[in-house]
Amino acid sequence: SKKPVRVAVTGAAGQIGYALLFRIASGEMLGKDQPVILQLLEVPVEGPQKALKGVMMELDDCAFPLLVEMTAHSDPMTAFKDADYALLVGSRPRGPGMERAELLAVNGAIFTAQGKALNAVASRNVKVLVVGNPANTNAYIAMKSAPDLPRKNFTAMLRLDHNRAASQIAAKTGKAVADIEKLTVWGNHSPTMYADYRFATINGESVAKMINDQEWNANTFLPTVGKRGAAIIEARGLSSAASAANAAIDHMRDWALGTNGKWVTMGIPSDGQYGIPKDTMFGFPVTCENGEYKIVEGLEIDAFSQERINITLAELQGEQDGVKHLL
Ligand code: NAI
Repeated sequence: SKKPVRVAVTGAAGQIGYALLFRIASGEMLGKDQPVILQLLEVPVEGPQKALKGVMMELDDCAFPLLVEMTAHSDPMTAFKDADYALLVGSRPRGPGMERAELLAVNGAIFTAQGKALNAVASRNVKVLVVGNPANTNAYIAMKSAPDLPRKNFTAMLRLDHNRAASQIAAKTGKAVADIEKLTVWGNHSPTMYADYRFATINGESVAKMINDQEWNANTFLPTVGKRGAAIIEARGLSSAASAANAAIDHMRDWALGTNGKWVTMGIPSDGQYGIPKDTMFGFPVTCENGEYKIVEGLEIDAFSQERINITLAELQGEQDGVKHLL
């Protein structure tokens, strides 16, 4: 049987953690033949540490055959030791009345410390996914704080936006979500993201031709996908958790096990593609093979798309400028 891999998860006692850990342990992320060791990080505070123990009791009670070991941590230097995968879920999202500078400073502290810890103790091949918001900028901070690790190891989660876009397109066209190919979301995980179905197909047919309604694209589809997180908070009284955990599973599974040529969206550091400045942590269309992602290149960017890409890029550059002094 396969050698176990080490999967570190931060924010493990939070609501996404609760929807995520059981699926990792059951083999949905890395395959039904891949044993895992869970290394769980929470803040060094009694409440969350106690809640984490409760989650671990439940994981025990599932008797998952693939879960060979699990440990609880309050220090990233031990939580990330030899980690092959790191899902950085815990963060400080913007609360009501919170100033932008405060948000960036709090997360700057969390993600510089976690980036440095990954740099010091994780596997040199560690695959890092940042879920905690502001996800792209947090991933950028972690990457910049880990100079001895390859830049490409750091990614941000745009997959929830991708899956939300796919679901809206399936509903609009009356087709199966599983048949949608070549969809992507450009930019920041925020309402400025640009979900782009110009290249998408369903059973080989063009989605753009099927829908043929630019007014719907600009005034219904993009705002619906962009504001979906807020709509879920409004309806549920809590932010998306199961769908976020599901997107994290999709992102890591596709990165590790490959997409068979299918496009997916990942937030990754740009190498300058599509005019996005190097290192910007940006949502791009990618395919994955042999544990590596590759940007789909050479797509035509029309005027409408360029305008949307410029907006989300400007927002990201603003965030990244705001944390420069912390790096
Ligand atoms: P939550 O508040 O239920 O849980 C977060 C947990 O992280 C808490 O238990 C907290 O103690 C822990 N934590 C905070 N700082 C930490 C640190 N430095 N080290 C380790 N643990 C830490 O929040 P929830 O709902 O689980 O969401 C987590 C994050 O994911 C939020 O930032 C949220 O905005 C973000 N999110 C991102 C999405 C995306 O598509 N990228 C989608 C949905 C949520």
